[in-house]
Amino acid sequence: MSERTLVLVKPDGVKRGLVGEVISRIERKGLTLAAMDLRNVERSVAEEHYAEHKEKPFFGELLEFITSGPVVAMAVEGPRAITAFRQLAGGTDPVEKATPGTIRGDFALETQFNLVHGSDSAESAERELKLWFPDL
Ligand code: CMP
Repeated sequence: MSERTLVLVKPDGVKRGLVGEVISRIERKGLTLAAMDLRNVERSVAEEHYAEHKEKPFFGELLEFITSGPVVAMAVEGPRAITAFRQLAGGTDPVEKATPGTIRGDFALETQFNLVHGSDSAESAERELKLWFPDL
């Protein structure tokens, strides 16, 4: 059964010219794009997107970062798309958790600048896709 997940190429990935690399890995895996948009992130969208991290000490930094430049937002579709993309991305900490061969493992060094976001569950995907692509 096909499902959809929200993928973001964060401002670090866009600045470093890694959008094509990320899309290429998504497509080579066999996942498809249902929607894609380069956009600046409103602070209110950033706050809602990261609502679960509101109490974390890095919440302020997280908002600063995600609103610091354009992101590429995508609705990515395919069988088990949520888990499939999280495997492509690798763990949140690009050095300790993401292994070589994953997007973060190959291209990132710091947790704050880990290039991509992918929804972590069916509930998150539904919530995030409504927030980022309300018309989808
Ligand atoms: P993401 O998976 O998009 O969702 C939460 C984000 O918070 C995570 O990626 C990281 O970019 C960021 N994050 C997690 N832990 C830290 C931390 N200790 N310091 C700064 N940012 C963090």
